[in-house]
Amino acid sequence: MTNAAIIGTGFYVPSRVVTNEDLTQWMDTSDEWITERSGIKERRWVEQDEAGVTIETGGEMGAKAARMAIEESGIDKNDIDLILYATLSPDVVFPGNGVFIEDLLGLNTVGAMDIRNQCTGFIYALAAADGFIKAGTARTILVVGQEIQSTALNLTDRGRDMAVLFGDGAGAVVVQATEEDRGIISSVLHSQGRFARDLFGEAPMSTIKDRINADLIAQDRHYPTMNGPMVFKHATRRFCESIKEVLEKSGVDLADVDLVIPHQANQRITDAVGARMGVPEERMFSNIAKYGNTTAATIPIAMAEAENEGRLKKGDLLVTVAFGSGFTWGANLIRW
Ligand code: UT7
Repeated sequence: MTNAAIIGTGFYVPSRVVTNEDLTQWMDTSDEWITERSGIKERRWVEQDEAGVTIETGGEMGAKAARMAIEESGIDKNDIDLILYATLSPDVVFPGNGVFIEDLLGLNTVGAMDIRNQCTGFIYALAAADGFIKAGTARTILVVGQEIQSTALNLTDRGRDMAVLFGDGAGAVVVQATEEDRGIISSVLHSQGRFARDLFGEAPMSTIKDRINADLIAQDRHYPTMNGPMVFKHATRRFCESIKEVLEKSGVDLADVDLVIPHQANQRITDAVGARMGVPEERMFSNIAKYGNTTAATIPIAMAEAENEGRLKKGDLLVTVAFGSGFTWGANLIRW
């Protein structure tokens, strides 16, 4: 039977470190509040020039992560026959970022598809990669998760609940068809649109002329907003349900799972899920203190770091799980 195995990982984060202390110059917050409520100590934000233009594009960040994953996998880049690109922050309104890295990497017209599922984007992208490979549509898929969040944040007291949480970054994996008994075993995907407005970026929007106007900007409606405590509550519950569901689907016991990589939303969510599910701390991966929440990029960045740290080895059982805007949530079970 053909399986879809992850054979290379890579990640890239901008070099600019923004500490909790740095944030206090723009908003009424403190290192103590951010650390206690989220576990975040610092994040990476892409440098901007004096006009506010980022020194690199999201596509360029994704391409850097992708080059690392391609190199680690040992494939020839021309083996790639599909790009799946998860982001909620494409460089322009359209097209999506997948086509930009097709060009940056010189991938010679391969298919490129963006996946718009916010914090759950990489889970959906891996599920899609698995499906494309098992259906025979593609054999070697580059899967990228990348975000530039920093240019969208409201750096005033009005936006402080979100501004302190989010960071920029990119992660990538190469997924390839194999006859070996490894790879993506199963995935579960969910959404609940009635909560779409509890965590969303409203403008620019296609339902009004010109998509943005002075009134919307005056009302801060071009900034993302979130009902934090409500998202927290739903996230904790859905993380647990998804882990259970993806394991049950394949008849695997949680005790046999070597590592859980949860979407890095909040250390308190990770801790609550670990405690509720009985997963010890050393089997719940966390790097949120360094990078904050990089949305679709958290899981591939964590995969690359876990592998580099020797916490993810060939043959290990891995569960990835995420929850985010939509609401959307889901999980993948993977034999590394
Ligand atoms: O990937 C999915 C995306 N998002 C998430 O998963 C986020 C889920 N939610 C959370 O992580 C938490 O709800 C937050 C970290 C956003 C907030 O923590 P909380 O414990 O739920 O705090 P809260 O929203 O209930 O706010 C408590 C207080 C409020 O002040 P009052 O009304 O008690 O006077 C806030 O105004 O903390 C205030 N506050 C802040 N204070 C200092 C909110 N943001 C900040 C801040 N610095 N950055």
